[in-house]
Amino acid sequence: MIKAILFDLDGVIVDTAKYHYIAWKALAEEMGFEFTLAHNERLKGVSRMTSLEILLEIGGVSKTDEEKKELAERKNEHYRTFITKMKPDEILPGMPEFLKGVKKAGLKAAIGSASKNTPTILKQIELDTFFDAVVDGNKIAKAKPDPEVFLTGASELNVKPEECMVLEDAASGIEAALNGGMYSVGVGSPDVLGKAHCVIAGFEGVSVESLIAKCMQKR
Ligand code: BG6
Ligand code: MG
Repeated sequence: MIKAILFDLDGVIVDTAKYHYIAWKALAEEMGFEFTLAHNERLKGVSRMTSLEILLEIGGVSKTDEEKKELAERKNEHYRTFITKMKPDEILPGMPEFLKGVKKAGLKAAIGSASKNTPTILKQIELDTFFDAVVDGNKIAKAKPDPEVFLTGASELNVKPEECMVLEDAASGIEAALNGGMYSVGVGSPDVLGKAHCVIAGFEGVSVESLIAKCMQKR
């Protein structure tokens, strides 16, 4: 029986990938190489420092640890100029209704995100008091596909892993859910998220009850 829903933040509740893209692209241009939207896909679900490593690999550029720290800080400052202007109308279509349905069904809800900017984003979109637990990049040591972020969420909610359903847009996040022994829903393309128990394109017209049924059926 599902007792809790664990939400990834970026790409599930809001589309922040476009802001990450602008900020990483600016750094790439400074260093003299192109960073495309296809490249940006590789950064989804990945921590800030790992994202930087991937960016440098794409450009074939090497930097010292000190320089990497400075680049990551500068990228984050640029990124924050966008997210500090976010409003509740940036919550993805269907998600406000879905969230209401979760509460109405008496299910617990937690955030499981790699982002250290999670508190800022939740405050901007006015969901900072909605979740029963928030586990983010400030709290965890091991990045997805390690299940730490979701297992910590389950433990904070006082539920067992097999009682959790994880909503994720990144392949590494689906793996993290599966590694933790949880049900998983991929939000996006089945080509990328095929390992999930079920895959949906988005939340419009999707109720939590129908999603749980779909997930269980395809097990
Ligand atoms: C994830 C995003 O949620 O958070 C990644 O999908 C991002 O693209 C990661 O790199 C870390 O985010 P932040 O806000 O800590 O730089
Ligand atoms: Mg995501």
